[in-house]
Amino acid sequence: MKIQIINGPNLNLLGRREPGIYGSEGFESFFEELKAKYHGITLHYFQSNVEGEIINQLHQVGFTFDGIVMNAGAYTHTSVAIADAIAAIKTPVIEVHISNVYAREEYRHHSMMAKNCKGIITGFGLQSYELGLKSFL
Ligand code: DQA
Repeated sequence: MKIQIINGPNLNLLGRREPGIYGSEGFESFFEELKAKYHGITLHYFQSNVEGEIINQLHQVGFTFDGIVMNAGAYTHTSVAIADAIAAIKTPVIEVHISNVYAREEYRHHSMMAKNCKGIITGFGLQSYELGLKSFL
């Protein structure tokens, strides 16, 4: 089984970025733990702050991988282009968020891409990614 994790803008700063909201663990160390725990699965990780690069990655894996766990960061709330890319590919996408977006500012309550995703997981810290991954098993 092949699963792609995609992180969008500012998520390269996890561990240093607003730790009160996003926690103090960087994604790289979490990803290593995840790979060790789910060693039977081929897990790939991609992060970009650039909308078009995220779309390119969706196109690249979106016809061959079994699942995509994606935290599009702020693009979740704004990007028609990423929403269209999710609709265009065959691989199911789970939308995940570290924070509970519904407990935050109103502009975070709307997701452009949710309707094209298989499901949404929000508010469980980095565990949101693991829950997304588990949904494909
Ligand atoms: C986020 C929530 C978004 O609103 C925000 O723009 C992010 C991170 C989360 O994981 O909680 O960058 O997706």
